[in-house]
Amino acid sequence: MTNNILKGKRILISGKGGSGKSTLVTLMSDVLQKKGYKIFALDGDASNPRGLAGLMFGLKKEKDFPKALIDFFGGIKKVTCPVDDPSPLTRLNDSIPIPEKKIDILKEIPEKYFLKRKKIILFQAGKIKKYGQGCDGPAEKVVRDFMVKGDYVNLIDAPAGVEHFGRGISKNVDILILVLDPTFESISIAKRVNDFCKDIKMQNFWLILNKIKSKKVESQMMNKLGKLKNRVIGTVQCDSKIIESALEGVFPSKSEALNDIEKIIEKLERIKN
Ligand SMILES: Nc1ncnc2c1ncn2[C@@H]1O[C@H](COP(=O)(O)OP(=O)(O)OP(=O)(O)O)[C@@H](O)[C@H]1O
Ligand SMILES: [Mg+2]
Repeated sequence: MTNNILKGKRILISGKGGSGKSTLVTLMSDVLQKKGYKIFALDGDASNPRGLAGLMFGLKKEKDFPKALIDFFGGIKKVTCPVDDPSPLTRLNDSIPIPEKKIDILKEIPEKYFLKRKKIILFQAGKIKKYGQGCDGPAEKVVRDFMVKGDYVNLIDAPAGVEHFGRGISKNVDILILVLDPTFESISIAKRVNDFCKDIKMQNFWLILNKIKSKKVESQMMNKLGKLKNRVIGTVQCDSKIIESALEGVFPSKSEALNDIEKIIEKLERIKN
């Protein structure tokens, strides 16, 4: 029987650069799809040119990539950085802000803005394409405020680090997941983000330990996390299949890490949201 608990939830995947955010969004989409969910994935990272279009769909040529969502909203001349202008995103010639109105994506957004396969729909918020094109704050406003109608599980691949928290990106999020690779920096980011969560009273905040090679590394990380270890929702093994697939630019279909992700999704479904 299909479980519907995560239907309609907005899940933000955040973490240090290179910790595995995009890989986990890709694996999570696959597991969720097999469980019968419809997935709306948003590549919110302006820095990596291929990003999720590469990992999830195996695309290599830029001409095959979807147009950025920020262009749907009028481009960087229209969309403002949320720090300069905290007001929510509003569509061109529309008076109602997107978070209030929401968009029916398949009806209202032309196909050139997304990729679709089976139950997964992928959008890109915006990408840095030109030297000196400006701050990526406007693209982050799209990430923060692009709200979709329907029963999709929303998986949002956040930009690396914590700068987007300064821009209030977690405002419309139901579940916040932080990916930690085995580094001291990831532990520091977890503590910082935990403070942000206390400030905004975000209870649904979870940690995934990724690229874990041994029980010893796992328990070292748990020790360093101190009280925060209660927030760990699961561990994902360091898997050579993921590394090999990443080099080929294809989806890691045979990854044993998929079993780890399955357990994490089951736990997320058990949490009272
Ligand atoms: N569980 C894992 N086992 C082995 N390799 C992994 C695992 N998770 C991620 N990787 C590898 O680590 C690298 C970084 O992963 P990924 O691109 O998903 O991180 P990211 O957090 O999205 O990075 P960025 O901050 O650049 O967006 C990739 O080469 C990926 O294949
Ligand atoms: Mg990434």
